Amino acid sequence: MKAMIGAHRTLQSLAGQIDRVAEVLETRPEVTEAPDAIALRSVRGEVALEHVSFGYEPGRPVLLDVSLHARTGQTIAIVGPTGAGKSTFASLIPRFADPWSGRVTLDGHDLRHLSLKSLRQNISVVLQEPFLFPASIAQNIAYGRPGAARPQIEAAARAASAHGFIERLPEGYDTVLGERGITLSGGERQRLSIARALLVDAPVLILDEPTSAIDAETEAVLLDALGRLMHGRTTFIIAHRLSTIRSADHIVVLEHGRITEAGTHDELLVAGGLYAGMWGLGAAGTNKLVVNSER
Ligand SMILES: Nc1ncnc2c1ncn2[C@@H]1O[C@H](COP(=O)(O)OP(=O)(O)O)[C@@H](O)[C@H]1O
Ligand SMILES: [Mg+2]
Repeated sequence: MKAMIGAHRTLQSLAGQIDRVAEVLETRPEVTEAPDAIALRSVRGEVALEHVSFGYEPGRPVLLDVSLHARTGQTIAIVGPTGAGKSTFASLIPRFADPWSGRVTLDGHDLRHLSLKSLRQNISVVLQEPFLFPASIAQNIAYGRPGAARPQIEAAARAASAHGFIERLPEGYDTVLGERGITLSGGERQRLSIARALLVDAPVLILDEPTSAIDAETEAVLLDALGRLMHGRTTFIIAHRLSTIRSADHIVVLEHGRITEAGTHDELLVAGGLYAGMWGLGAAGTNKLVVNSER
């Protein structure tokens, strides 16, 4: 009886995991590679959206006529209420979906003309909930670059401020995640995914709310690591913390799928719109952007 109950539990949790994987796969609409797709040799990292509209269901656009030009090495911050379309916007850059109308370009090439491999090799994505595998720490860091040698993996971990906590794990870099109750905190998981992105060394970087689940103490360490990662790359950052947004070259406010404000921090404060309002709230209190979706 005990064995059967145990097996039942295992199957149930497995079913849950399979559902989650299926969910992730299903939410990625098919994109197809053109038969004459080109592979970019060296990418500068210039990204543009030209009059992009997109949605998940016909007749229900999530992005409406969005245009933006990011020059090589610039940091673009995207802010706005929950559900405004920020993550959707970010997902179009590695071409997880194609726009309904308009186009997205990398170094002037329509993404639909590029090979998916060369596109994704040149774009790193760091998500709020990083995807970690039940494999060793080293394998998790080397995920985007399977051939990486241990010294390279360690260097990436150091730059991501992850080396310290990794060394304290029972088997260091060979510690297998999920085994013998090994669990990592949100901040540690984030730093692993930053190390992973450092190792990939792509010219374009997408950070979707990389600090939102982190307490203030870990945040200082994390921001340091993020700073090193962002250096010299074209970065799109969706963030709630003022400190990460303030210094961006260009800030875009998305509301209901439209860009309603755009400019530098100083310009947007003078404009006195939604961004200025968020800054007012943040500066007075926790130094965290509070975005009220009921506004
Ligand atoms: N995979 C999906 N399928 C259907 N609707 C989606 C999907 N992802 C997001 N949406 C919808 O698109 C809108 C924008 O979502 P999202 O881009 O996640 O916003 P944000 O990141 O700004 O919170 C929301 O209304 C959300 O419900
Ligand atoms: Mg989002």
